[in-house]
Amino acid sequence: MDTVLLTDSEADLLRAAELIKNGSIVGIPTETVYGLGADAGNEAAVRAVFAAKGRPADNPLIVHLADFSQAAEFTSAIPETAKKLAERFCPGPLTMVLPKNDRIPMVTSGGLDTVGIRVPSHRVMHRIIELSGCPIAAPSANTSGYPSPTTAQHVMRDMNGRIAAVVDGGQSEFGVESTVISFDGEDAVRILRPGAVTREMLLEVCGTVTIDPAILHEVEAGAKVASPGMKYKHYSPKADIIMVEGSIEGFTELVGENRGDGVYALVFDGDGELFPYRHLTYGADSSQQAHLLFQRLRELDELGAEKVYVRAPSPEGMGLAVYNRLIRAAGFEVIRV
Ligand code: TXA
Ligand code: MG
Repeated sequence: MDTVLLTDSEADLLRAAELIKNGSIVGIPTETVYGLGADAGNEAAVRAVFAAKGRPADNPLIVHLADFSQAAEFTSAIPETAKKLAERFCPGPLTMVLPKNDRIPMVTSGGLDTVGIRVPSHRVMHRIIELSGCPIAAPSANTSGYPSPTTAQHVMRDMNGRIAAVVDGGQSEFGVESTVISFDGEDAVRILRPGAVTREMLLEVCGTVTIDPAILHEVEAGAKVASPGMKYKHYSPKADIIMVEGSIEGFTELVGENRGDGVYALVFDGDGELFPYRHLTYGADSSQQAHLLFQRLRELDELGAEKVYVRAPSPEGMGLAVYNRLIRAAGFEVIRV
């Protein structure tokens, strides 16, 4: 099967929606990263999504809706806090884990009795959900374990021949996946995966926001986790990623001592001019770093990088999302200089 590249014209979006309605899988742009969309209620289509990604069956898919008001059709209870959060952050890069009802099959929820609900803001994704009339299950459109795709070309590279079509909606705005939260009780939420909706932003709406420890620390083998995705190695290019905390001077010295064939660095924009070794840059602030990180990790693989020293981003605000993706890509290996 050849994968068709579609544009974001109304005619092509209609084609994409028809494919999904008929049980096929389509790569779709969102404001975070590209997703692999399928009808969330069609078990065979959802199984095919897991197969296309090579994803473990116990790692649930997020269900995307055109409007948060539809969440009641697929869940058994919606806390008041969730409604308040939806008013403020939907549509947008926020996924809320809620108790599911039986309109969401167990394959979609990875065997859990909850479902992650998200209302994407990207015009193309929104229109495809509307036209298809189904809730769309969509994991990030990368091969399992590899960095998420932020362009249609990335999706093609990972999925060509495995899915029916990819819709080109340009480069993803945020560049990291949505913030995933669960509810800890009245007015209390827990961040399971950090994203562009930050802890500070959530605190404007709810009283308590806990950051799950698995965001920054390795989960022990066999440990019970709040979100299955936390167990798996993630976001990892072929190259060995080493995260380095500390000054640019210490960083430069470290890379100098270890330089050789296949050794690259990923540094901040401002570092670029002074840094004497082979490198790419990934922005000057957290939102630029989020926007560029996955693209740079893919580019480093294309350059043939075997080992990449990366300047650790600030874990503040949206930086926590960037820090979380990098520390996982690095297999939790951090050097302090
Ligand atoms: O921005 C995004 O969220 C993108 C776009 C396409 O919407 N999607 C995405 O999906 O990143 P995925 O499948 O690559 O990551 C979903 C994460 C996984 O770590 C999964 O374990 C967690 O969310 N998750 C999904 N449903 C869950 C649930 N019911 N309970 C706990 N964690 C859940
Ligand atoms: Mg993913």
